[in-house]
Order: sequence, then structure tokens, then C-alpha cells
Amino acid sequence: MPPQPGESVSPPEIHSYENLTALSEAAAREIVGDARETVDRGNEYTIALAGGSTPQPLYELLAGEEGKRMPWEKTHLFWGDERFVPHDHPASNYRLVEESLLEEIELTEGQVHPIPTDVESPERAAEIYEAMLRDFFSYRDRELTFDLVLLGLGEDGHTASLFPEDRPHEKPDEDTWVRGVRAPDRHRPRERVTLTLSALGTAWDVFFLVAGANKREAFHRVTQEEDPELPATHVRPRRRLVWLVDQAANPSGIV
Ligand code: 6PG
Repeated sequence: MPPQPGESVSPPEIHSYENLTALSEAAAREIVGDARETVDRGNEYTIALAGGSTPQPLYELLAGEEGKRMPWEKTHLFWGDERFVPHDHPASNYRLVEESLLEEIELTEGQVHPIPTDVESPERAAEIYEAMLRDFFSYRDRELTFDLVLLGLGEDGHTASLFPEDRPHEKPDEDTWVRGVRAPDRHRPRERVTLTLSALGTAWDVFFLVAGANKREAFHRVTQEEDPELPATHVRPRRRLVWLVDQAANPSGIV
């Protein structure tokens, strides 16, 4: 019986690196290794990508030399969240991946699963995306899960588009995988679509990529204090919860 969603069976791993470059290189190596193992077992590899700026160097590495070892022909890309803007908008998480990765690799349209933003509302986009996810995984006779979910961490402890003000951990989302949300005023664009904590909990592995001194407090509150007020504290995958963090965010080198 595989570990159940939300049941991270091993304690969180914290891997510290000198800087974002080293962190991204390590993440790329881990992802390529996991993907090759998964595909060698006869499965497709499914990864939900993070937005924001931290993962861009990783995506660029996967578009380059390191990514040449990726089994791209058996890989499917999803998004953990999206800003509700056109995919060619500067704030689009799809555009981030398109420019740093997709333009450099050969994937068919059926392998790239962006969150739709050309519909009437974030709520409608969430419905469409959730239906696609359930079809994709059930169609392929796969347990409803991702092999890997990449996440960032906001200074306020948000992750994906799960914000402390929304108290996502108090809304048991066990039957909902994707939600339309309105971010707090400080986060623009405010209209978002996000995977829920229960969807994140179905992942085999979750990698948090965290860099910069401005993330120090949030990183400490989540990993050392397990502050229940912060959504990132409640991310519990089935197997590995891995923090890849740079020295600026983790100066004491906590591991
Ligand atoms: C988004 C992300 C968000 C991001 C954090 C960290 O759409 O913005 O999903 O959760 O990962 O805000 O962002 P940075 O990497 O830019 O610091």
C-alpha cells in the first residue's frame, strides 16, 4: 500500500548550498535522476512546476546540458499555480517556463499542461484544470499523484498561491485539487489559480527551492518552528519533502 497523500514518510530533508546556482545544479541532478528511474520502471514522469523567480536557473539548466539526460519523451509538465493573466504576460508562470525551458526542448503539446487563463474566471480555470488532472491520471491508470512538485516559498510563508490569510490548512480540500484564489493586496496580479494542499499532498516528492536573505524568517518559521499559520508548513507529500536552500536563506546551515 503506497504512502497515503499527505503522509510524508521520511522526515524533511534540508540541503544547503552556497548560492542559487549550486542549489539549481543540485535540483537539476536530482530531477534528472528521479525522472530516469521513473521512466526505467515503465512510467511517465509527471512534474508540477513552481512559479516566481527562484526556479528560473533550474529551468535553464534543464534546457541545457543537464537536461540532455532527461527522458523528455516520457515527461509531462504541469503547473502548481498560475497568475490569471494571458500566457504571454510578463507575470505568467507559463511564460517563465516557456522562455527558460520550453523553447529549448522538444515536447509535444500533449506533454505540456498549462493552467488555462483564457477563460472567464480563475474559478472556471480551476474547474477545467482539475478535470484535466483527474482525466490524465485516471486515464493512464495512475494513482492521482505527481512524481514531483516544485515549490517556492514567499517571505510571508505562502507557497504556490496558498496564502496565510486564506488559512488553506483550515479548509480541508481533500476533494478539491485546484482552486481559484484572490491573493492579498501585496501580491500582484491578485487573481490566481492554485493546486490545493491536498493536491500537493498526493505528490511522491516535493522540492522547495528557497534562496535569498529575505526568505530567512519564513524558512525558519516553517522548518524549525513548524508554524501552523504558514501554508508551507502543511505541505506533506507521500515520500520525500526536500528543502534546497542557499546560505543566504539558511545562514546557520541547519540541516
Ligand atoms: C508564484 C509562486 C509563488 C513563489 C513564491 C516565491 O506564482 O509566485 O507560485 O509561490 O514560488 O512567491 O517567489 P520567488 O521565487 O520569486 O521568490
